[in-house]
Amino acid sequence: MARSDLLLNLVKSGLNGERELFTKTVEAVIAEERAKSHHVLADSLTKATLQHKPVRETSVQVLLKVPSAELLLEKQPDVELSDLVLPTAVQTLASQLIEEQQRADLLRSYNLEPRSRVILTGPPGNGKTSLAEAIATTLCVPFYVVRYEKVVNSYLGETAKRIQEVFQYARLRQCVLFFDEFDALAKEREDRQESGEIKRVLNSLLLEVDRLPSYVILIAATNHPELLDRAVWRRFQIRTTLPLPNRDQIARWFDLLAKRYPQLNISKAKRSFSSLMGSSYSELHDLAQDVMRRCVLDGEVNSDRVFQKEMKLWILNHPKKGIGKNGHAADSNFSKARNSRTSKEGRRGAGSSPAKRGTTRRENRTSDSAARASVR
Ligand SMILES: Nc1ncnc2c1ncn2[C@@H]1O[C@H](COP(=O)(O)OP(=O)(O)OP(=O)(O)O)[C@@H](O)[C@H]1O
Ligand SMILES: [Mg+2]
Repeated sequence: MARSDLLLNLVKSGLNGERELFTKTVEAVIAEERAKSHHVLADSLTKATLQHKPVRETSVQVLLKVPSAELLLEKQPDVELSDLVLPTAVQTLASQLIEEQQRADLLRSYNLEPRSRVILTGPPGNGKTSLAEAIATTLCVPFYVVRYEKVVNSYLGETAKRIQEVFQYARLRQCVLFFDEFDALAKEREDRQESGEIKRVLNSLLLEVDRLPSYVILIAATNHPELLDRAVWRRFQIRTTLPLPNRDQIARWFDLLAKRYPQLNISKAKRSFSSLMGSSYSELHDLAQDVMRRCVLDGEVNSDRVFQKEMKLWILNHPKKGIGKNGHAADSNFSKARNSRTSKEGRRGAGSSPAKRGTTRRENRTSDSAARASVR
């Protein structure tokens, strides 16, 4: 929204006593000033609003309250996009999102908003958290990780209140708000075993997501897309999967590593990379660390030899790896998730949410083409 619109809204809402519009406008002004690095003004505006003491607490004050620090963890983002090996579709979507955020003013002058809501799925250790952090790094904005274990509370009504607090805080600045293990909050409402409380939590979550301004980039991640309520999917404009790496991506990952550690020579071991298929990036990272540790402790200078030895040992200890055909290890949670999703879909009939589109043969390939990316 252009600055003149904000002023106009402030005046109108102030005169007409429209609290909600007033609150939203104040939030937008504060966020805009912060984005321009006018922190003194942004802080003064926040303070002024908090210091205002009417007889009854207004919604503005409720909205500007700082949540207890334990609900949100502010992490200094330091992962760069160039540190990650991403399927082309994911790379493109991330670049588009970043450009839209960086050139939001231009979009808004055409009455368009940048995309700001992303959901990342995929097996553990393949970059969901890392990608969210890299987006924050590139945009130079704070990276807030929601501590869902603190947000979820067994007391009735408390969880929904905490969710509200988190969103209220995030709305005040341009930031990346990251919900890991999103399924813990956004579970299917139809699940009969769940109490009415989970329905209330989800309703409150969806309401907050809807109200979120586009300068807050909401990124949700889950290893269990099949657990998410259908209503959740349409809230996300970008829905994409980070799959296990294929052979080429494994090679690219080791090339990146070799750049960081030039002493690590693995040119011969490269021929055996296909036996690592079925492993996640974080497992590749562990293997590389094992090799480097052995090189140091054994005083071995031929890292290629160590690598080949460690790789054999590693494959022996990970018998399910190296299956590689569809890129998903047979025992991974994700494959189980996919299977159970297939049976759930059968029961529900055809649908259009990404959760329901996840099991075609094409999508099971771990390659660029398998990075399911859906854009609204
Ligand atoms: N696509 C990738 N490219 C390069 N390195 C990666 C990639 N994905 C993961 N890694 C490495 O694996 C580590 C763990 O990744 P990350 O925490 O992002 O995975 P995740 O998908 O969020 O896992 P989880 O589902 O368990 O939360 C990272 O710190 C990084 O070292
Ligand atoms: Mg993660």
